[in-house]
Amino acid sequence: MCQSGVKVWSLLVTLHTEPENWGPDAHKFNPERFTNGITGACKLPHLYMPFGVGPRVCLGQNLAMVELKILISLMLSNFSFSLSPNYKHSAAFGVVIEPEHGVNLLINKW
Ligand code: HEM
Repeated sequence: MCQSGVKVWSLLVTLHTEPENWGPDAHKFNPERFTNGITGACKLPHLYMPFGVGPRVCLGQNLAMVELKILISLMLSNFSFSLSPNYKHSAAFGVVIEPEHGVNLLINKW
């Protein structure tokens, strides 16, 4: 129990990489984990909140999702992408999780 007025902060990056919720590969980059949606990817879906939650939830969430879907579908319908052999996997924790050495891609037009 918390006293009234106590502020509780949680670090999103910790919630998003907690092995008890995401499984033993929680720290691996594995977009396939979302094949069956968020509920298929983890045990407690309400702990996944990339846009925040509650009264201060991201105002641009729906716009951002639509923009990303349009952008990704345009890119995938025009180009094929594969990782360059020079790619070095190294996830770095900043404001968000970022690739420490960037992501070198080989891009071909279909
Ligand atoms: C992938 C893209 C985006 C991500 C991951 C993201 C994520 C977030 C997060 C985590 C917050 C804090 C929520 C909280 O305090 O609980 C936030 C707030 C906010 N975002 Fe975004 N955002 C994105 C795109 C956008 C876009 C495109 C806009 C505007 C067009 C936008 C406008 C805002 C605003 C105005 C707030 C402050 C809301 C408030 O404090 O009342 N965001 N966003």
